[in-house]
Order: sequence, then C-alpha cells, then structure tokens
Amino acid sequence: MTDPSIRGPLSADPLIVLRPWEAPEVTSWGRLPMNAVDRRAGALSLDGDWRFQLLPAPSMEPGPEWSSSYVPGAWTMQGTDDLPQYTNFRMPWGEFPPASPAANPTGVYEREVDVPAEWAGRRIVLQVGAAESVLLVHVDGRAVGISKDSHLAAEFDLTDVVRPGTRARLRLTVVKWSDASHIEDQDQWWHGGITRSVLLYATEPLYLADVTVRTRLDGELRVDCQVRNASGGALPDGWYVTGELDGQLLAQDVEFDRINEEDGRVSDFLGEARLETVVRDVRAWTAETPELYGLTVRLHRADGSVADTSHHRVGFREVEIRGRDLLLNGERVYIRGVNRHDFHPLTGRTVSYEDMRADLTLLKRFGFNAIRTAHYPNDPSLLDLADELGFYVVDEANIEAHDHAHEIADDPRYTAAFVDRVARMVLRDKNHPCVIIWSLGNESDYGANHDAAAGWLRRHDPTRPLQYEGAAKLDWADPALASDIACPMYAPVEDCVAHALSGKQTKPLIQCEYSHAMGNSNGTLADHWAAIESTPGLQGGFIWEFWDHGILQRVNDGRPAGRGGAGLYDNGVTAPGHRWAYGGDFGETIHDGAFIADGVVFPDRTPKPVMYEHREIAAPVRLEYADGELRVTNRQHFRGLEWLAAEWSLALADDGTLTAPAELPDVRPGETASVPLPFELPEDGGEAWLTVRVTTAEDGAWAPRGTEVCVPQVRLRSAAAAPVPADGGPPVEVDDSGLLVHPLLTAAPVLSLWRAPTDNDELGGAAVRWRTWGLDTLVRKVVGVRRERGSVTVLAEYDTWAGVVRHEQVFTRVEGGVRVEETAELPDGLDDVARVGSVFETVAGLDVLEWYGQGPWESYPDRSAGAPVGHHSVPVDALFTPYLRPQESGGRHGVRHFTLSAPDATGLSVALDGPRQVSVTRYRAEDLTAAAHHDELVPRPGCVVHIDAAHRGLGTASCGPDTSPAYLIEPGTHSWSWTLRVL
Ligand code: GAL
Ligand code: MG
Repeated sequence: MTDPSIRGPLSADPLIVLRPWEAPEVTSWGRLPMNAVDRRAGALSLDGDWRFQLLPAPSMEPGPEWSSSYVPGAWTMQGTDDLPQYTNFRMPWGEFPPASPAANPTGVYEREVDVPAEWAGRRIVLQVGAAESVLLVHVDGRAVGISKDSHLAAEFDLTDVVRPGTRARLRLTVVKWSDASHIEDQDQWWHGGITRSVLLYATEPLYLADVTVRTRLDGELRVDCQVRNASGGALPDGWYVTGELDGQLLAQDVEFDRINEEDGRVSDFLGEARLETVVRDVRAWTAETPELYGLTVRLHRADGSVADTSHHRVGFREVEIRGRDLLLNGERVYIRGVNRHDFHPLTGRTVSYEDMRADLTLLKRFGFNAIRTAHYPNDPSLLDLADELGFYVVDEANIEAHDHAHEIADDPRYTAAFVDRVARMVLRDKNHPCVIIWSLGNESDYGANHDAAAGWLRRHDPTRPLQYEGAAKLDWADPALASDIACPMYAPVEDCVAHALSGKQTKPLIQCEYSHAMGNSNGTLADHWAAIESTPGLQGGFIWEFWDHGILQRVNDGRPAGRGGAGLYDNGVTAPGHRWAYGGDFGETIHDGAFIADGVVFPDRTPKPVMYEHREIAAPVRLEYADGELRVTNRQHFRGLEWLAAEWSLALADDGTLTAPAELPDVRPGETASVPLPFELPEDGGEAWLTVRVTTAEDGAWAPRGTEVCVPQVRLRSAAAAPVPADGGPPVEVDDSGLLVHPLLTAAPVLSLWRAPTDNDELGGAAVRWRTWGLDTLVRKVVGVRRERGSVTVLAEYDTWAGVVRHEQVFTRVEGGVRVEETAELPDGLDDVARVGSVFETVAGLDVLEWYGQGPWESYPDRSAGAPVGHHSVPVDALFTPYLRPQESGGRHGVRHFTLSAPDATGLSVALDGPRQVSVTRYRAEDLTAAAHHDELVPRPGCVVHIDAAHRGLGTASCGPDTSPAYLIEPGTHSWSWTLRVL
C-alpha cells in the first residue's frame, strides 16, 4: 500500500516525526484540559478565509502555492479534489487499526494574527473548535500542540509563543485519516477540515480554570470553582470567588486550597472554592418548563478587583433511576427523542447558531422532547439551545469503532482515547441541565475500554445515569458497568413489551434508536407508542434520525454547491441544475448509497410527513369519546393546558365542516375532564368526526402564537351504509381489450399490484420477492368481455411466478357516471404484495385534489395516526413527497371520496365503497422505480391515480423490523368498488 513518494522526506518537525496519526496512545500533546468556562464572548474570532494547501500526505512539506479555505468549514465541500465520501460502517480504506493509509489528504491552514498589544502580561489561548481527525498546531514555525477528537474543541496556551503587539503566523495542519478515524467510524459523510470556529482569547494570569454547577430540586445550588495561575505558576495569596444568581449575591463558603496532608502546606498551583446557596421557591427546569437562572462567577484578587468572570445558565432539576423508571424531578417522563447529527447541506458539518435554533424549534413544534447527540458531542450551542427551549439530551461521546469494534473495544492502545473522549465531553457539558444522560458512544462492541471510561464517569459525575447500547446488547437486564439504561436499537415492539413483562427487567427501557426514517418509512410508530404508554418499564426512544444528509450538488460538474448555495432549495426540492447527493454521487466507489438519507426532515429541514405522525402521537391534549361522553386529557408531565388555545371542528362526510371556539379544561398533568359536546349532530347524516385544533395561545420561545400543536380527533358517528347509485347516465363504453373508454381518462383503470419500492421494500427484501414474482412487469391478458344491458364485465389474467392472478371488473352505468366493481384473486403464493388496486391516468389540467378522508399530509396504513379525517384540498403537485431516492410516495389513507378538478371546476369525482388508500401523482410507479434522483423525474402532464383495496404498510425494514403482519396483504380475494363521475 505504501507509496514511498507519498511518505516524502523525513521532516525534522517533532509533530511530524512522531507520526501521531498512527499512535492511538497520543490523544493530545500540549493541549489544555477541557473545562466548562465559555470563552466565546470577548474572544478574537479567527474565522474567515485562511491560506490553504491540500497535501497528499502529512509528511509532505507545503509548497509555495496557496489557495484559500473558509474556516469553519470542510475542505471536502470547498472546491478541492478531495470530495465527500459516505460509508455506513465500513472504513473507506483497508488498513487495520491503528494504521491509516499512506495517501492521506492533509490540509494546511495558515494565517497571520495581530496579537493585541493590550494583551501584554495576559495569558493567551488558542481555541480550535473542531478539526478532523488530527490537529497539529504551529506558531511561527514552532510546534505547539496536537489534538484528536473531531467533535470537541482543543485549547493551547500560546502565552510563551506569541508577543502582544506583534503579528504571529498560525499554522493548523489537519490530517484527515488516522488511528482516530477507526473510532470515528460513524454512519455519515467523511470530511476533512476545521469545522467549528477558531478563537484567540486572553485571560488574566489568575483565571478560572473550571466551574462545576450542581443543583437539587429543593433549590440547593453548589458551584465548585477551580482557580489556576498562568503556565501553572503559583497562586497569589488572598484570591476568592463570588457569584451572583439572578441578582442574588453568593459568597465563597469554603475555600479548600488543597492541603498537603503531610506538612500542612497549601497547594500553590490549584485553588478550589465553593459557592453554595438554597434558592427559595425554586422554579424547576423541565423540558416543558425550561426555567433557567443566570449565574455569574467572579474570581477576585486579594484587593477585591475582578480577575476573571464566567457566565452560566443554571437549571434546577434532578435525574435518577428508581427501579426500572428514569425519573426527572421525580416524574417518569416519556422520552420522545430523535437522533441528531451536526449536518448542513452546504457546509457538510458546520452549523450556525441560527441553524441549530431552527432545528430545535422545529422539533419542539412537532412534539419532540429529547435529543441524542448521535454520535459525538454536537456543537456547543446546541446544548445552550436545548437548555433554553427544553430538551432532555443524551450526550454521546465521539467513539464509534464500528468496522473494527471487536478489536478496538479491548485494545489497550485505545484506552486513553476512550477515557479522553468521554471525560472531555463531560468536562465541557456537565453544567447543562438539558444533559440528563451520558452515552459512552455508539456501535463499538463492549470491552474494557468502555468500562475504563464508565469508571471515570461514575466517579466524576454521580448525578447522571450513563448508557451504552453495546453494554446492554446481549441481555437488557445485565447489570453491566457501562449502562444504566437498556437502550437497544431497532428492537421490535413485541420484544420490548415481552422484556417489560418478563419479570427480569432491571433498567428503564429507552431505545437509543428506533423507527428508521429512511425514505417513506416509520410504519408502526403509533404502535410503538401504544405499547410504551400501556407497559410499565417502557419509556420511549430516539427515532433514527433527524436529517436526511443530502449534500446540495451541482449536476453539471458533480461538485458540492458549497457556500453561496442558499436559496437553491425549498420544500425539500432543489433548484434546477442541482440535486441532493447521497453516497456514490461524488464518484466514490466505496459507499453506501442512499442509506445516508434517513431522517424525519429533508436536507433543507422541510418536515417529512412522519413529523405530523409524531406530532399527534406526542400531543399534549388527548380526546376520547365513549358512551356519549367527551373527555379531554392533559398528557403532559409538568404543566397545565393554559398555554394552549383550541377550536372545535366537526367534519361530516357529505356536509362539509363546522367550527366552534373551544375552551380547554383546567386539568393538571395526567388528569382528564369531561367536556360538553360542542355540536349537535345533524339527524340524517352519516359519519361525523370531531377534531380539536390546538394551537399556542401566546408567542413563545419556539413558536409564535397560533402555531398548530396537534389536531386530536374522535369519531362521533360511524358511516351509514353507502347508497347504491341509481341507474342511468350515459352508456358505458368499453373497448375490445376490455378497457374503459372515458373522455377524462388517458389510461383506463387496470389492476396494480406494484409500487415503486420504498427504501424499506428494497433493503428489507420485499422488492426482490416482488420482482421475482414478476409484479413489476405484469402483462394483462383479457380473457373475456361480456356486454349486458347497462354493464360490461371484463375478466383479465396476469401470469406471475407464483401463480395466476384473476381480475374482474364490472362497469355499470349509473346516474352521472360509471360504477366500477372489481375483484382480484391472488394465488396463495402471492402472500405479500405491495398493493391490490386500480390505477388509471387522467387528462392534463386536473390540478387540484379535494378529498374526504385522512390528510392533509401523506399517510399510509401503518402511518396514519396523525392524519385527521376531514375535507382536504391540495394541488396535485404538492401531494407528492420528494424522497431523495424516488419511491412510492404521496399516498392518502382512508379516502372516502375525492374530486380532481381544473380551475374552471370541471373534472371528475370518485366515490369509494369505503375508506381506501388513494394516491394522485404525476408519476407512474415505473417512473419512480427507474429514477435514482429526483432531478431525473419528468412529471407527466396528467395525473396517475391509484385506488387501493389494500396497500402494504411501510414498516421500517431498511434498518429494523419489517412491516407488522397486521399491515401485510393476504392472498385470496380482494373486492372494491368505486363510482366515477364527470363534474
Ligand atoms: C444504527 C447506527 C446509526 C445508523 C443507523 C442506520 O445502527 O447507530 O449510526 O447507522 O443504524 O441508519
Ligand atoms: Mg455505525
């Protein structure tokens, strides 16, 4: 593998000679300890364009030619020839740990910095927010330090290497591949670069080295401060600390400079001091009520002057595990979580404060209350925002050894890296009330290295539980040192319930990943939650995942659109000439395709339909109707319903919708109250559905007033038997091949058993079976056309490899149109098809679909809990969901009748024999099947309409359980009927 020309001449530089990129024992050199003192305010930002060279290997010397690169950013997104590459778990190269490949892109970033003259006499620190995967720091040619861990900041003391009032030359060398890559083998794009901000800041020589805040629910506050002097110098006499909590002064209670037991001397280099108080009538922090107090800690010199200041936001809350319950402030809270990566379609990895705020406000609006920072500590602002907006966070260390997990988990050469990564995360994030659980990382098997990290963590922070999926993998009840929580991934609902009922459960069961959101997915999410809410011991989980990681790509040259690409996308669809790239789109041969597009939002953060499903499952208000009594339940844990406004609406099958203002009852969390029925039902009508549209009553941190929060619904009355349409209407015209001839149809209704395979269908194996049976290329054979007075019966057959499918259609003239009665007989061998139904195509111009049924967003049989029944109207082009890899999409569940109309109100109407799955799009199933990207699709001018007697559920088989048996299609006879009329 080794190409000697790439290894280059041996450099005299110590940072190069030691080859730290192949030494897992070297986690850092010259790096300052991590701490929780935020130095961003008042720092000198070094973000911007830096001189840049991309070398083929770290041992090469930079030449005279420089280009430039923007910091923070990944060079893989900024015009170099080293492009993003996506692999799930296989390493993109063959070297075994701890080796890395000889061809190893290495970015050299250089710039000058004018060190302010007023920093004379101060301690000067460089902070590099994140660099992947090895950072080497030089100042004016002098070696300063090394750092690894691509998702945490590294700080270096430059006091002795720069001179205030002069200009210094900083060089940050970033080596892409290293021993550390083997433990950063997360399922995401590989990039190289400096992906978070770079700062230079100064403190007084006497400074706050760390601040640790601990709170209790009874209002007790304890602030432990560490004080040091520059370059490890002796502490001056008489220093002390004070604090201020929302204006209330805190004085130093204990000063416990470390006493040397033997001779009674005070440590002269590390000072420790504590501030304590009890806040009366404390306002507790929860995700529902994210109450924060402002804390300022000041370090004083003996004369009282302030040497250093640190600001924190404090939340009073307690986390504990009691039995098999995880308690937050004593309450068994449901964990409605999602896994979140730091991702952006233009930068790859770099996310701004505004981006993160938008992520979190969206999650709040859709009922999420928890985030797992998969699979590394996210940008530090994310936790500030989670504190402020209210999320429970599982903070995860940057350790995933997936491809070589088994070897690395017990490899002592990696022990330091495991402990280092966990410890530095904890030291950075310990003061955030939002962090309720630490995670030791992801998919790295289970070994001594995990126990080493767990040991450090348990001693250092006894206030929070820790979890690690690998430690509880084989036996969820196992009291393994490295997990307090049974946190499996993708466990079927039945297995979770069985565990909770087994009598063996010892830990709360909260899935670290479940309900894989790849493409059109998340079937049975509501079934998961029905089980969670009815089974003690089950407490929730984290959906995989928030983002579809599609990178915005120019189609002409295949490059990432990069900075300046904003505005090129909207509503999940890219502008012409662009597309969402996934694995393989940058010319890489080793990749894992569209498996990177598995989020609940598109790369531009447009919510996918599953978000509405989740919103309803998580609704703070539940409606129930039984025995003539209407009840409202407050499903929150900590607050009343006073922050919500509401409106009733009554949807009647044939008579439209009535609305009335609603008053939500004053019920405490978990309580239920009866409310009077807001409407009198009309005597004669059929089906009636009552919905309460719940919105925010006031402007809030995550939503303006009037934002829809949920739309819970109950059925007040079932459908009356559908009237059989009266005879009459124009004669039915059926041609010799048994096809209906109709002025508004360009393709007559025929049988459909195929859908464009979803990612779940493809990766779970269903699509392979369908193709083997020949369902994608069915040939219709007419075996009989029988014409009677007023009706025509057509019998067709389809040969499949699992037997013959018989399909009968009876076309009858009825008042205003034609009634179509259909029967399909599936042989026993066809025991799991995609759909059984009719498909036809319409003339162009019928551009709006109005329907009575579930909606308005896309829904499928096993993902329909969030789509209320009602009268909906959506333009045809907006019905389709542009999943990154085109697939079955745009379906609406439980449709009873619909019209497709032109602006002049001409068009067609269809009345169904009962609630059916319907889809209206511009694409045939084969159009969608043939396209790999959205930009390859050419919309047809008319509509492709599917009416399904049965439609297979979506399941989650791309990663996790396939569609539950209840949502599969049985062989045998399927019958359905519908009436087509011209408007
Ligand atoms: C999990 C893994 C995630 C992701 C997911 C599939 O096994 O932890 O990182 O790979 O599967 O999308
Ligand atoms: Mg993995």
